[in-house]
Amino acid sequence: MGMVLPELWSKSCSVAISLASTQLHKYQHMINWKKSASILEIGFADGHTSSHCLAPILPQDYSEFVASDISKEMINYAKQYFKIPRWKFVQMDIGANVPEEFHNKFDHVFGFSVMHMVKNPRKAFKNIYDMLKPGGSTFLIFFEKTPIDDLFDRLKTHPKWGKYGQEKMISTYYYSKNTKDDYQKDIEAAQFKDYTFNVEQEMYRFSSEEECDNSLVAVNCTIPEIPKELYDEYIKDYLKEKMRAHLYKISQKNGKNEVTLHANVFVFIAKKPENIQ
Ligand SMILES: C[S@@+](CC[C@H](N)C(=O)[O-])C[C@H]1O[C@@H](n2cnc3c(N)ncnc32)[C@H](O)[C@@H]1O
Repeated sequence: MGMVLPELWSKSCSVAISLASTQLHKYQHMINWKKSASILEIGFADGHTSSHCLAPILPQDYSEFVASDISKEMINYAKQYFKIPRWKFVQMDIGANVPEEFHNKFDHVFGFSVMHMVKNPRKAFKNIYDMLKPGGSTFLIFFEKTPIDDLFDRLKTHPKWGKYGQEKMISTYYYSKNTKDDYQKDIEAAQFKDYTFNVEQEMYRFSSEEECDNSLVAVNCTIPEIPKELYDEYIKDYLKEKMRAHLYKISQKNGKNEVTLHANVFVFIAKKPENIQ
């Protein structure tokens, strides 16, 4: 599902920036940059994370950077802010059919905090594989279970909010006993053989409860389904649920709530074979 609040996300995406910068710092030595590389990013959103974490390490001679997202709101917003030569913007669902002309086109495919939002991860891994040139590589960071899964798991049966498609926000393998195994099956079905798939424990301390709340609202893709007159009441109930979500820890400091997020993230780095029959 696509996010629809680019401006709010641009102000509250420090958590995504923190995840991407930590893992890129740790694993960037494994990116084997190609000459005149053609680069695709999936789930680009407003572009803040990418411009902070990926842009500084892009090789200067890259030939093109295609920023994609399922959400037209995100793509339209990003287009206004990034008038960079060799950057293009494309609305694309990585879990559906991708344009034929993207097949065997990219040397590198990146995705930060997006794969856990994709409804059909098997198709998404296959698309990434198909869009890579032989010898091309991908670098993805995504949550094992998303911090908001718990919230939507309760809201899906909420007497008032359950009818507004709350279950659509629950990540595909939320109920799985072994999320890593499930993704691994998708990865192997896509024909990736040469890959690293690690779990990293992450902790992020929000600068304020407001920052946490803004990020929770920004990632909520069901907002367009909530009637306008019920919006304030819905947001209040939605944010209340974070108190019971087990990946968020809330403590008191100087009379204020301090919120930290504790989550496992996957780092997936893979190469498409050079020689494919
Ligand atoms: C949590 S945001 C992360 C954005 C950015 N990569 C970052 O790290 O700040 C996830 C983004 O993925 C997009 N998205 C969700 N499902 C998608 C899909 N199936 N295909 C492409 N993009 C998707 C959302 O619209 C949103 O912009």
